[in-house]
Amino acid sequence: MNLMVFGAPGAGKGTQAKFLIEKYGIPQISTGDILRAAIADKTAMGMEAKKFMDEGKLVPDSTIIGIIKDRLAQDDCKNGFILDGFPRTLPQAEALRDLMNDMNISLDKVISLNVPDSLIVGRITGRRVCPDCGASFHVEFNPSKVEDICDYCGGKLMVRKDDNAETVKSRLGAYHEQTAPLIAFYKDMGVMVELDGTKDVGEVTKDMFKAIG
Ligand code: AP5
Ligand code: MG
Repeated sequence: MNLMVFGAPGAGKGTQAKFLIEKYGIPQISTGDILRAAIADKTAMGMEAKKFMDEGKLVPDSTIIGIIKDRLAQDDCKNGFILDGFPRTLPQAEALRDLMNDMNISLDKVISLNVPDSLIVGRITGRRVCPDCGASFHVEFNPSKVEDICDYCGGKLMVRKDDNAETVKSRLGAYHEQTAPLIAFYKDMGVMVELDGTKDVGEVTKDMFKAIG
């Protein structure tokens, strides 16, 4: 099963991807998580990407496409994968299409989580993330069972550096200008499913599993 979770920053992509991993046993490929790991490791690529991420701008396509080429070639992707936060521009979507054609595989479903901008700031400023496994929680809407401790791996939860009201504005701007046009791209491909991402986490998960079938 080759899946994609799509949506604005804070729409719930990472949250829902965790339920897909549990159900289908396939890996989540989050370009945001891969970039944050590169920053933590202080690699040259990470240091370059950091400048863009801190400002809420997209990292250049050439960097991102290189990351995805390497990642999809790894063994654990043989039975499928869940793309989270990739692609985000038309050149990225076209590169993915060409790469998957070369690999003789296709996308089964693109799950778009639709959430209006007015709800995004509250979601992002209340988010707590696990630096060890990438899981995402919310102090009010989706709290961890034990305060500040990850339900999945026991890691100590933290606030992401780009989760502030200022950066959210430019991340939303980048989404509407560069990423939202991909909805039409995947509609044309016949794989797009649009879900109401404003429902409770569990309701969205139910709708998502129903849509995947
Ligand atoms: P990335 O890490 O992908 O960030 P993002 O797209 O901004 O998305 P988020 O991770 O913020 O949101 P999410 O949809 O995963 O929401 P979550 O489930 O956590 O990218 C970061 C940066 O890296 C980018 O800005 C860019 O610079 C760079 N980058 C990454 N990929 C790139 C690419 N392909 N090209 C170029 N640059 C790239 O949920 C959010 C919060 O809401 C949580 O607190 C959660 O608990 C809560 N929540 C979730 N669902 C619900 C619900 N149904 N109801 C109430 N609360 C909910
Ligand atoms: Mg995420």
